Amino acid sequence: MAIVMDGNGRWATDRGISRAEGHRAGGRALADVVQGALEIGLSHLTVYAFSTENWKRASAEVAALTDMVREHIEDEEHLRYDVRLRWAGSPDGLPLDLVDALVHHEHLTRHRTGLTFTVCVNYGGRAELAQAAGAIARAAVAGQVDPARISEHQLARYLPLPDLPDVDLLWRTGGERRTSNFLPWQSTYAELLFTDGYWPDVDRRDLWRAMTSYAQRQRRYGAAPPGPQLPPGQRP
Ligand code: FPP
Repeated sequence: MAIVMDGNGRWATDRGISRAEGHRAGGRALADVVQGALEIGLSHLTVYAFSTENWKRASAEVAALTDMVREHIEDEEHLRYDVRLRWAGSPDGLPLDLVDALVHHEHLTRHRTGLTFTVCVNYGGRAELAQAAGAIARAAVAGQVDPARISEHQLARYLPLPDLPDVDLLWRTGGERRTSNFLPWQSTYAELLFTDGYWPDVDRRDLWRAMTSYAQRQRRYGAAPPGPQLPPGQRP
């Protein structure tokens, strides 16, 4: 499951409080959703906390967001549970203490097998694909890869997080219906769910509702829907 946690700013504006307060409320909503993911046994949860496009925001808001992500990681709540924390994104421009916290907690939790919780911080999907292209080009120049035989499977091994599985359900709150450069490689076959409520109003029950709606969908990966059952020997 991957989530674009949208609507923090509008939630705050509706209440006449700062956007930073909205992000803080969003952080609390996320903590509850992580608990819900653990309770239901979800194996992978990936969230979009800060995109490469978010640098266009006012510097005070950027600082509030990066501080908050760091505080959530350093409060070590996830260490009390079977959570493997991972980071997707680039260190470029991020405060060093945030990079240190992300790397440190990734390392601390690397052997855990419960929920893999991937936070995308300073993440851009196209940048990730460009990085993979660069890495495979270097491998080709070094003679480790035959450029004539590059398969999808092989390219995926050069992604920054090669073991991040395909997304089954991509959920975006906040009413917009787009995926905004989030996990383009991993989401090509994802089911999409768009809900109108703002992220800070979400809790674990919304996660469970999202999963229930996913379970009712029929996934075909390009195949035809199953036809009616015909008696043996009869052709459709
Ligand atoms: C989009 O809302 C939300 C973000 C840019 C940040 C989301 C981050 C969190 C909820 C906290 C993450 C915390 C951890 C520990 C990973 P918006 O500001 O674009 O809202 P708007 O569309 O209403 O303006």
